[in-house]
Amino acid sequence: MRSVNLTINGRQRRVVTTADKVLLDLLRDDLGLTGTKQSCDKKGQCGACMVIINGRAVRSCLTKVASLEGADIITVEGLGTPENPHLIQEAFVLSGAIQCGFCTPGMIMSAKALLDKDPDPDEEAIKKALRHNICRCTGYTKIIDAIKLAGRFLRGEITPDQVRPDPDGPKVGVSHPRPSALAKACGTAEFTADIKVPGTLALAVVRSPYAHADIKGVDSSLAEKMPGVAGVMTAKDIKGTNRLKLAIADRPLLCEDKVRSLGEAVAIVAAETPEKARAAAEAVKVDYQVLEVLDSPAKALAEGAPQLHPHSPNLCYSQPQIKGDAEAALAGSAAMVEHRFSTSIIHQSPLEPEACVAWLEEDPEGDEPILTVVGRSINIHAHLAGLQAALGYENMRYLEAYSGGQFGLKLEITSEGIAAAAALHFQSGVRYIPSLAESMLMTSKRHSFNMKVRMGADDQGRITAYTNDFMVDKGAYFSIGQGILVRTLGMLSGSYNIPNIKALGKIVYTNNPYGSAARGAGPPQGNFALECTVEMMARKLGQDSLDFRLKNSLLPGQTKSTGRAAEQWPIPELIEKIRPHYDRAVAEAAAHKEGPVRRGVGLGCGSFGISLAGDAAVAAVELDPDNGVSVYAAAADPGEGNDAMFTQLAAHMLDLPLDKVRIHLRDTDNTTAAGPAAGSRITFMVGGALQDAINQLKEAMEEAGARTYQGLVDAGKPVRYLGRKKTTFAAPPMDPETGQGPGFEVEIHAIQMAEVEVDIETGQASVVKMTAVVDAGTAINPQNIMGQLEGGMDMGAGLALREKYVAGETTDWKTYKFPTMEYYFDKEVLIHETPRINATQGAIGVGEMALVPTAPAIINGIYDAAGVWVTNLPATPDKIKAALAGQG
Ligand code: FES
Ligand code: FES
Repeated sequence: MRSVNLTINGRQRRVVTTADKVLLDLLRDDLGLTGTKQSCDKKGQCGACMVIINGRAVRSCLTKVASLEGADIITVEGLGTPENPHLIQEAFVLSGAIQCGFCTPGMIMSAKALLDKDPDPDEEAIKKALRHNICRCTGYTKIIDAIKLAGRFLRGEITPDQVRPDPDGPKVGVSHPRPSALAKACGTAEFTADIKVPGTLALAVVRSPYAHADIKGVDSSLAEKMPGVAGVMTAKDIKGTNRLKLAIADRPLLCEDKVRSLGEAVAIVAAETPEKARAAAEAVKVDYQVLEVLDSPAKALAEGAPQLHPHSPNLCYSQPQIKGDAEAALAGSAAMVEHRFSTSIIHQSPLEPEACVAWLEEDPEGDEPILTVVGRSINIHAHLAGLQAALGYENMRYLEAYSGGQFGLKLEITSEGIAAAAALHFQSGVRYIPSLAESMLMTSKRHSFNMKVRMGADDQGRITAYTNDFMVDKGAYFSIGQGILVRTLGMLSGSYNIPNIKALGKIVYTNNPYGSAARGAGPPQGNFALECTVEMMARKLGQDSLDFRLKNSLLPGQTKSTGRAAEQWPIPELIEKIRPHYDRAVAEAAAHKEGPVRRGVGLGCGSFGISLAGDAAVAAVELDPDNGVSVYAAAADPGEGNDAMFTQLAAHMLDLPLDKVRIHLRDTDNTTAAGPAAGSRITFMVGGALQDAINQLKEAMEEAGARTYQGLVDAGKPVRYLGRKKTTFAAPPMDPETGQGPGFEVEIHAIQMAEVEVDIETGQASVVKMTAVVDAGTAINPQNIMGQLEGGMDMGAGLALREKYVAGETTDWKTYKFPTMEYYFDKEVLIHETPRINATQGAIGVGEMALVPTAPAIINGIYDAAGVWVTNLPATPDKIKAALAGQG
């Protein structure tokens, strides 16, 4: 031990520290300065822990407290507060640089250190200064914009008030700052691991080192005797179903007699400290009988392969789609293209690890205590019900903390199952703060697809038929199961008019990580195959890529692959809007067709369906005594900006100041189930329900002749109204034999263009610029739409070029090849607005579509640059090089 004198946020302190204690732990654990975050298991890979020490931006997770004698330290809390923010914090808020906000404090500290030294940094200087900070949500574009804006504020060229949208001006169509952004910028927004509950036990989980094994026994006797250990629990201590069910109940909370994928939870240890819990978990002995690992659908379907689940063969679901007669149309086509495509297992990669806090509290109205669970579910009511069934305990409440991103992964219960089970079993508050490596093991992934496609076209260059036989690696558990097939088939024909379709999707249990929702969930993979095939066909016919897409665009009245006729289909307008950019890019690329680094231009369209038939949502609005309103909707906002959408929508419809709208989205106690914040459905469905509620309120006020809360009360009218939204068709979305049916209610459309360079000596492909034209109906908050597109394109580039999750090998951000500033590319987003019929003020969501056209645009760009098709993603340098070698 030694004592160290230092100054933190202007306050002198003397702290006593061990030799190896790092500053991050001092700040977060001892001083409660939780604005400083951690994502990367303190490996120096994320920058979320950045602080300023003696004027330099430093990763606090790598800095020993013992080395800080006399140091002057500033954390994000020392910069400004929501009431009195620093100009850099204001610049981040006003630039729309904050989505989930988990990376934001670290980004702001790096920006501050940079701007203190260089008040007018150029883009290269910003990228260099932020090289240790990573962000999954924004694609870095708005972060760079924010730092440039902050420079202007600090140099006195402009003030925040000159940039801030007029709060008294229009509420819709204007990029008003998100309600939560300032708290995230100032480090006061509480994420799960920031929440401290007195007297909690720390948890550690015993996880399987095998991907497939029978459990013969668990011996926890040694662990239970270790100092500070409260106990060890296994599946037999769980009183409910022990199943975390979505479509079917196949996924255990704790494994009973079998593990089916690497890292599954077998036992939970509770102890006084995380260190003691982890040490005891190491001491738990599990007797495994290792079984054959089925790590691909091919192995799982091979003759004699073991059946992974008793309830189903390994081929666990299939769904065909038949429209017209594709075989006859192909036989009669003037041209045909045939190709195979595959994608990898992808980790959604939110920065925040899978933390959960749970505690029991007395229930004044009941005999049993209330079990409160804090996590970052995107479907709090469904997760509450799932936990109740799994644990056999009713009196529960789910609170959603601020969420450090999720991108689909929080459709599943993860750490919440562990923490809730332990809180009940040990009758104690618990904190479960797993590492990033452990978080990766416990979470669902994007499914890998294998697709075999054929496309036919007539001699006029019109697509006549499309077939796609695809196999989905389900991994160990069914999760949303058939939803992946229904979504892929529901959007199979993408943006095009294809009269004849024949497809068959199959999903197969394997011992890989289980697949579930992942930004787009199926369509990004399906659209990758479709858009590359469209490009191949255009080239085969000698037609211009953009013109070919225009000629084959679906038009209103024509039918999608599901047979449902389109109502609105602005793809032709989007194509015309991108045309000047395309012409410019093609001309520029023409000058780079020789030499080792060659440039190409690739296109991808995307028409992304929102809300399957049978979808429904509710939301409530309540007139408050001060004549403002409170909105109650169980609609998570893990970074998309749903908080801004609800606020702006209510303020617009009720002609209220923005600060008179109070939103309540995160508590099962004061909201009603509204479905998941997934599939870009929140604006359309829950926003639609809120619109209905507000219309009821307005109607009641009109009937009462009331303009105020008191007037409404005096007229004997209720002040709270529950609004509903349903799709025009009830479930099911498609026929199980033909894949025909009502499918999706509405689409968001986009075209994206990739300008790509390929080094033909190294095989390295890099994106120079992505341009997107997007139509999400009325733009409620244009900045939020742009932010979704920019971040989505960054994620799509990862899918195309780098990212691949391999269980056991991918353990952190470095091994995952997380997109850093090193991979930053220029992005331009153009918004086209076709107000949607039957939508919330004409607006629909945008988040899921953002990456759907990106990977094919990049792969098409690689072909344009280098003349090779690399269609087993990711298109890494070795694959491109091998393709180039094959070409010669
Ligand atoms: Fe310090 Fe990630 S926690 S860099
Ligand atoms: Fe950067 Fe979410 S805003 S990680």
